[in-house]
Amino acid sequence: MHRPRVYVTREIFPDALDLIEKEAELEVWPEDVPPTPEQLREALSGVDGALINVMDRVDAVLLDAAPNLRVISQVAVGLDNVDVALATQRGIPVGYTPGVLAKATADLAFALLLATARRVVESDKWVREGNWEIAHHPMFWLGSEVNGSTLGILGLGGIGLEVAKRALGFDMKVIYHSRTRKPEVEAELGLKYTTTNKVLAQADFLSIHVPLTPETHHLIGEKELKKMKPTSILVNLSRGPVVDTDALCKALTKGWIAGAGLDVFDPEPVPKDHPVLGLDNVVVLPHIGSASNRSRREMCLLAARNLLAGLRGERLEECANPEVYQALGI
Ligand code: DGY
Repeated sequence: MHRPRVYVTREIFPDALDLIEKEAELEVWPEDVPPTPEQLREALSGVDGALINVMDRVDAVLLDAAPNLRVISQVAVGLDNVDVALATQRGIPVGYTPGVLAKATADLAFALLLATARRVVESDKWVREGNWEIAHHPMFWLGSEVNGSTLGILGLGGIGLEVAKRALGFDMKVIYHSRTRKPEVEAELGLKYTTTNKVLAQADFLSIHVPLTPETHHLIGEKELKKMKPTSILVNLSRGPVVDTDALCKALTKGWIAGAGLDVFDPEPVPKDHPVLGLDNVVVLPHIGSASNRSRREMCLLAARNLLAGLRGERLEECANPEVYQALGI
């Protein structure tokens, strides 16, 4: 029996690989460093299915080099690295992993928010560097209070919604703007829908959860940062280019906003000499929003199931371009 060929572009959880191996011939990129575009083209040149990562760019050049490709399965919810419209044109379903990572990512949004507000990283470093000489002082290490403040959310998808739920446990007032208004969520959780400008102006904490698209590229720039409160804190776990990094550095230096918690950068990895790394009012993480054992394993398993469904000519459990099914007659 013909077994399809599959390429997995990064090491993933072994049980996800086992699942794939039951039905396909499997090859895995052996290094931690991502393949270059040329290496990726070569790796995918004869395969039927590809299980990919957010750092792998899927464009016309790659698809031309992979004429047998019948399914692309990404281990992530964000798909800004994949030309999904082109995949649709070519009849290739694109799998992704929404849902299973929303809670872990929202947990981390709160970790960043709290760490930035209460200066957790900065004071930890200060203690370790041997600076703690006065046991306690009423005016030392003051930060912003999270409970009772206003959280503004941009993008109320799966992750934004989980962030809102956590905020309610901190007695926060939650306002949001999203492509699609969610009246049922507003009624259930007491969230308030408003314009982006009002979210910017009223939020004590701004948490960004929009996908990166041409419309959201530099959604937050100088103009927007100037609308925010000087006491406010921005948290970004979406994609780096949603925020104009130069404008953000300016805002943090000039005091247009008080701080930022960043899990994503433009570019990634953030260059070692980037000015943002020199700022004390910023907490930085290396794009680990979904990096809990449970979520990452579930993402890998879901991506494996998406891949196998595509190879069998079936509908994917989570497909980013279901319009492709019509052309495929499934
Ligand atoms: C996603 O799912 O898009 C994350 O950024 C990658 O873990």
